[in-house]
Amino acid sequence: MQRSEIINWLRETDPGWLEDLWRLADQTRRENVGDEVHLRGLVELSNHCVRLCGYCGLRAANAGLQRYRMSDDEVLRCARQAVEFGYGTVVLQSGEDPQLTGQRMTGLIRRIKAETPLAVTLSLGERDDNELAEWRRAGADRYLLRFETSNRELYDRIHPPKADVPSAAKRRKSDRLAILETLRNLGYEVGSGVMIGIPGQTFDDLADDIELFGRLELDMIGVGPYLCHPDTPLADRRAWPDAPAGRQVPADEAMTYKVIALTRLVCPLTNIPATTALATLNTDYGREWGLVRGANVAMPNLTPPKYRILYEIYPDKACIAETGRKCQQCLSDRIKALGRRPGAGRGDSPNYHQRLAADGTSVP
Ligand code: 5AD
Ligand code: FES
Repeated sequence: MQRSEIINWLRETDPGWLEDLWRLADQTRRENVGDEVHLRGLVELSNHCVRLCGYCGLRAANAGLQRYRMSDDEVLRCARQAVEFGYGTVVLQSGEDPQLTGQRMTGLIRRIKAETPLAVTLSLGERDDNELAEWRRAGADRYLLRFETSNRELYDRIHPPKADVPSAAKRRKSDRLAILETLRNLGYEVGSGVMIGIPGQTFDDLADDIELFGRLELDMIGVGPYLCHPDTPLADRRAWPDAPAGRQVPADEAMTYKVIALTRLVCPLTNIPATTALATLNTDYGREWGLVRGANVAMPNLTPPKYRILYEIYPDKACIAETGRKCQQCLSDRIKALGRRPGAGRGDSPNYHQRLAADGTSVP
């Protein structure tokens, strides 16, 4: 797809024309990844974080947040629930928490792999190459790390150096693209993504992001609207102004559907979730509309409710008060109402299988 086409679609507001985009994206989804909606049980295992990301409620400097870390047994209980609910994957997500050491995570991954048939996805932030390699050896299948925006200047503004390294010398510039490359070389299924409508993000930036998705040949791509958290620096609109009038990307529902649809057209074989951030903007239909405009994955939350309310990346997160069982029932009803079906098995990314075949590597 030409860059000019991407920009034109991002700027399109005519509902009639947009119907064409939705139809094309849905058809491309059906032809390439089918009608199954793969379910990933999300376990938010710790809200401790050493980072200072300017948009995120878990940032180290947010002293108002009560912190928690789940025990291995608690995580295992969630994993067993994932099996019971028929999910093929468990996603272990946390802030960047050094107490979740290489060794501790290795033990946890081994236990989940030994005691369940689940695929294990990790989303633990920017970690050492050695840890990433060790977790892969322990059996982790996939890793999610969003690059958030491909505009380096904007990226650096919203990601100040992390809090736990006093010496400036140790403040290595974060290079998520390099980490994505490492993950790929280690044999992970690799997921990334961006936020939509970050203050200062322009239409050109967002078109760059979508083009980069294509070049990175990602196996999974998660995109969601930026949602303002009042206890973060980005909430100060004077310090974090929008891009000049007419250039700022709105952080709204329509823009999120456009990015999902365009991502499907640029990366037909990738797995794309209808994200919680989208469901937060439209609790009634956000997930469904994502699923009929290019998405093929949903991530029901399995985090025990007492912890779930503390995993406050942004306020008013969808499904905050629901139990895992409630989310399971609700999501599977919604999927069936769309004429689709919950995925069976692990739900690997067809893109992953294709690139392994192209590399001459056998499918694990
Ligand atoms: N609004 C929307 N998305 C957010 N994330 C973090 N904070 C916010 C926010 N305020 C997203 C980031 C991160 C993912 C786990 O959650 O893209 O990579
Ligand atoms: Fe949680 Fe519907 S997915 S209540």
